[in-house]
Amino acid sequence: MRKPIYLDYNATTPLDPEVISAMKQFVEDEFGNPSSSHLFGIEPKRAVANARRQVASLIGCRENEVIFTSGGTESNNYAIFGVTGFKDLLGKKIITSAIEHPAILEPLKYLETMGVSVTYVPVDEYGCVSAESVKSEIDDKTVLITVMHSNNEVGSIQPINEVSGLARSHNILFHTDASQSLGKTPCDVKGLGVDMLTIAGHKLYAPKGVGALYVREGISLNRVLYGAGQEMGMRPGTENVTGIVGLGKACEIAERDLRQNMITMKMLRDRLRKGLSDQLDDIRFNGHLDQCLPNTLSVSFGGIEANRILEEIGLDIAASAGAACHSDHIKVSHVLEAMRAPIEYAKGTIRFSLGRYTNEDEIDQAIRIVSKAIKLLGSLK
Ligand SMILES: Cc1ncc(COP(=O)(O)O)c(C=O)c1O
Repeated sequence: MRKPIYLDYNATTPLDPEVISAMKQFVEDEFGNPSSSHLFGIEPKRAVANARRQVASLIGCRENEVIFTSGGTESNNYAIFGVTGFKDLLGKKIITSAIEHPAILEPLKYLETMGVSVTYVPVDEYGCVSAESVKSEIDDKTVLITVMHSNNEVGSIQPINEVSGLARSHNILFHTDASQSLGKTPCDVKGLGVDMLTIAGHKLYAPKGVGALYVREGISLNRVLYGAGQEMGMRPGTENVTGIVGLGKACEIAERDLRQNMITMKMLRDRLRKGLSDQLDDIRFNGHLDQCLPNTLSVSFGGIEANRILEEIGLDIAASAGAACHSDHIKVSHVLEAMRAPIEYAKGTIRFSLGRYTNEDEIDQAIRIVSKAIKLLGSLK
């Protein structure tokens, strides 16, 4: 069966063939434990060290500032609980944005039940946080500010160095979830001025179940997992060597090809945007036009439900809905809600996210297929 055109790279990416070949040796042969002092441990240990160098190089930090984790969710949890700890929570305050991923919002919700005060700063109509709104929330109880680097649904890139500057001037730790940004836009931790940064492997052509957390040297986090001494004593558990090797290679490729990938993705995304605009009248685009990931296009089709659109195009195109259908109502995503997208449009929102393997022909087909489906569904209204 012919597979649909994949335009859901923000959900996950396929493995890069170079990543597969880097991992092969560790799937087939080098199974040793990197902590073993005998011969079997040597190559896995070297490979983990090499991957740490590759990750560090992509984000511009030192190797000892990279901790391997199981992915974006764990890195975010680690950053949050690492700062707050699990006791004496009452009275602490965390500032975040209204458009974070559940991997930030859910741990924060839990902390609220434990007495932590959490402030969700609003975003503008383009899905961008303003440093001013963060500034007005800072007080002497604030222990952490966490604002995502780019939004997974609409692609808006946040003014991270402005917010991190504020945090620094108040001696507050700053974390950013860059799960969607690596390989799509430059992310240099020094330039961004962040204390912690989350990396998710499977958004970056590495396998699922591996990620990393950058922790600036000198920051001491509370332990979240207890066990043996791996990852400089900060994240116990025998290393996922194959995944880590894959993540390292993926970071090397992302660094090497970043400029070219950005140009190609933006060209194709803009082609999709123009093609849909030329074909259809009643559409809106969500997210910032310039401060946006080059691969992401969130489109709202007026008066048509997103699930109906996905059903109609599903055999031909794989994309995501920005609204979910429940038995008696349609739930618009918290991101579109925070952006105050008009409800008649928000209900019909589809996120197209392009990647390294998207080509012009696929985009032209997508324009034809989506336009045809929207015209058909519009005529049935
Ligand atoms: C912005 C953002 N943060 C965190 C995550 C979670 O990452 P993982 O699936 O690696 O746990 C995702 C995944 O969708 C994401 O888009």
